[in-house]
Amino acid sequence: MTSQITIRRPDDWHVHLRDGEMLKAVVGYTARQFARAIVMPNLTPPVVNVAAGEAYRQRILDSLPAGSDFTPLMVAYLTDDADPEEIARGYEQGVFAACKLYPAHATTNSAHGVTDIRKLTGLLETMQRIGMPLLIHGEVTDREIDIFDREAVFVEQVLGPLVRDYPGLKIVLEHITTAEAAAFVEASGPLIGATITPQHLIINRNAIFDGGIRPHAYCLPVAKRERHRLAVRKAAVSGSPKFFLGTDSAPHAIGRKEAACGCAGIFNAPFALESYAKVFDEEGVLDRLEGFASEHGPRFYGLPLNEGTVTLKREEVTVPEVIAEGDLRIVPFHAGETLQWRLVD
Ligand code: NCD
Ligand code: ZN
Repeated sequence: MTSQITIRRPDDWHVHLRDGEMLKAVVGYTARQFARAIVMPNLTPPVVNVAAGEAYRQRILDSLPAGSDFTPLMVAYLTDDADPEEIARGYEQGVFAACKLYPAHATTNSAHGVTDIRKLTGLLETMQRIGMPLLIHGEVTDREIDIFDREAVFVEQVLGPLVRDYPGLKIVLEHITTAEAAAFVEASGPLIGATITPQHLIINRNAIFDGGIRPHAYCLPVAKRERHRLAVRKAAVSGSPKFFLGTDSAPHAIGRKEAACGCAGIFNAPFALESYAKVFDEEGVLDRLEGFASEHGPRFYGLPLNEGTVTLKREEVTVPEVIAEGDLRIVPFHAGETLQWRLVD
């Protein structure tokens, strides 16, 4: 039995680092595990222009624990009136690595999101021309559509036509949760990729209702039924370069989760690699973890692979029930569980 693995330093292609006290509390967990991360721009107010992207990047760098070697990759938040010239300038100046499309009201802090993708024609043409990736929260927001179907309906009604209309546009379908999304990405050309979170590889929707309502298992897109988890898992461990690591680590203070209307988001940053290692180990393909965690993402984005390595050892690690930083208390993914892999410092 493999007792330890060493892989090229990985990156997280989808993370929420927040701002202010929360940023200070959580950024060290991501910086400990990953060399770079795509930092989602859903702040209040959202990061919509180059100046805001630069300022947020600086706040992240200022919040890093001493000695960190971590590069935040910034993302522009798209609104209906996103300015193609401003976005292109941000990309060309190396401030923005990508744009994020949140359908309006799809998830946390998406009120300023896009109401109709057809409003973005000029911008999408520009992005296609300059090779700037479009990152998509792929759920329709029509409240008539069952919440468990919103991703599959988005793939069919929005993503399919988008890919046909912009055949040269690089697109990442973020945090996929369904067999339909995995199949769509697999069947598309090399410009279409997807990120996959630890939770969508490990839990199905039963976890949200396990003996009572479990707010810490609730995120968006919501976990689906078992057959979808298995399809997403198959895609992640397949070795296909279209699928790569994106934790969607989304911290909310405990009181914002344990509430009559609890926020969506799972804080998985502290043990993210341990969590992914569990999955690849269970599938008997630990040798494919490196591709998923450290190679497919940078190749998709056209960025260099990281130098250096990290090592995971087969050793028990108990995840705390609560992570406390100053006045903030956050419940991590796997709270109270024992995992079988440990990231060595
Ligand atoms: C994210 C958040 O809290 O910012 N929540 C989540 O459940 N994933 C937003 C998002 O990525 O949908
Ligand atoms: Zn997210």
